[in-house]
Amino acid sequence: MQHLITTSDFTNEEIIDLFEDAKKFQALRSNKLLEGKLIVTLFFENSTRTRSAFEIAAKRLGAEIVSLDVGTSSRNKGESIFDTVANINAMKPDAIIIRHSECGLPATLSEHVNCPIINAGDGKNAHPTQALLDLFTMIEHFDGNVDGKKIAIVGDARASRVAGSNKRLLPRFGIDVCFVAPDCFKIEGTEFKQYNHISEVIDNVDIVMSLRTQLERHTEIFFESVNEYAKDYCITSETFGDRDLLLLHPGPVNRNVDISDEMLKDPRNKILEQVTNGVAVRMAILKKLIK
Ligand code: NCD
Repeated sequence: MQHLITTSDFTNEEIIDLFEDAKKFQALRSNKLLEGKLIVTLFFENSTRTRSAFEIAAKRLGAEIVSLDVGTSSRNKGESIFDTVANINAMKPDAIIIRHSECGLPATLSEHVNCPIINAGDGKNAHPTQALLDLFTMIEHFDGNVDGKKIAIVGDARASRVAGSNKRLLPRFGIDVCFVAPDCFKIEGTEFKQYNHISEVIDNVDIVMSLRTQLERHTEIFFESVNEYAKDYCITSETFGDRDLLLLHPGPVNRNVDISDEMLKDPRNKILEQVTNGVAVRMAILKKLIK
């Protein structure tokens, strides 16, 4: 039985095969590949895209999905997360998809269940399905030729599990990763190049990935207001000029803080393609893991 806790759970060959399936699923048509299967989602943190993409992916594959409403579950009555998951596991689902604020929790839980665990984001640690859909979107955009491409990940890399998973996954496919952020959002103790301003790298990259400032994950207050951050780090038409670049963002976008209104209308941004690909890639992941 295979889990998806971090992107290192899949070899490069497995990822290439996964993307072949995702390509076939890209029209998001319904089929019966997982008919009779039952998937449980447990989201202990907010989610719009990831949760709905998993639910739509499951339904498009013909599987049933049960989403535990954690707000009304017995977690409020003092039950531990381990007991909650043991009880769900005892109901014999075919997979459990979990998002939780505690780093490493999905990995620990995977040792105590009889079905695949899919990590939909654990704290600041990892968000493997997001990184896989990001890579898939890049491969699609560059017609399969991502080896040697360069990406600048702009924003709060320190608190971002999306950045965490991408910096581990993208170099495996030959993509050179660097980060652009104010000092307070820089990653500590990393071998990756980090810059203070996008102008230092914009002429040397092919892809820009903007990230949300995850102020809820920091204990210190770094800015009087996000507008102060936006002055230097918001991706605008001036930032891009007429360069041929791909602009990505995992969502949710804070308009005019992460990316300007104008750039959100610019065809160089493929953010909604990422969302569609997010369903296709998750369909491929569910097909791969559920036997
Ligand atoms: C991100 C997350 O929750 O990790 N969103 C997502 O899943 N697409 C990023 C964020 O919250 O900013």
